[in-house]
Amino acid sequence: MQHGPSPRLIFSKAFSANPFGGTLGYTLNSSLTGKAKPNMPIDRSNTEPRTSGESRRDFLYLTTGTLAATGMLAATWPFIDSLNPSAEVEALSRVYIDLSPIAPGERITVTWRGEPVFISHRTPAEIAAARADDDLDLPDPEADHQRVQRAAWLVVTGVCTHLGCVLDGQTRLPKSALRRPWHNGVYSGQRGRWDGWFCPCHGSAFDTSGRVRAGPAPRNLTVPPHRFLDDTTMVID
Ligand code: FES
Repeated sequence: MQHGPSPRLIFSKAFSANPFGGTLGYTLNSSLTGKAKPNMPIDRSNTEPRTSGESRRDFLYLTTGTLAATGMLAATWPFIDSLNPSAEVEALSRVYIDLSPIAPGERITVTWRGEPVFISHRTPAEIAAARADDDLDLPDPEADHQRVQRAAWLVVTGVCTHLGCVLDGQTRLPKSALRRPWHNGVYSGQRGRWDGWFCPCHGSAFDTSGRVRAGPAPRNLTVPPHRFLDDTTMVID
């Protein structure tokens, strides 16, 4: 013969009333062991309506927690703020380039944030060759005009997008200076079939827009953020 409500009934009532209250511990134990303790008093205090004192306590908890979080943020803000690059550091990473000595067809290399950046003063023929291939099925489709701010000036990071080798092609070497035959008849030191840049590591070739045209490189050469201050001054920042 069973006395009082079943353990499972007690559990479901208590849980719906207050899942974190003291009643849960007692009824859970009863449910798990299967041994009801009918004469043991049940704590119903958590099932009573909340008093105004409890509401005030909740409010104080909330207010105190909010103040503590605000205080912690204020205390750590100088440290967080120190992680932002200062104006001096940003200015140091900026590179100003005088373009006036670079003749059409010439390419120069500058270092920006530890990486080589190629600046190519493109000839009309190089621009035309790049734009003629805009509509081809390229590995990383991108129109030439999307990669330059002024058609005559291409600015790209000189690092292969496959595994990061520095590319050949900044200077047009005479045939006598070419090194050993390399991928598919292209010599190391040459610009490759599309007259752009060539990667001596695994044979990726790039065109005069810095777009990948052959080889394992997955993406076009990166165009770093840059702007023209006037017709002869460019800044990479
Ligand atoms: S690193 Fe350039 S093709 Fe592999």
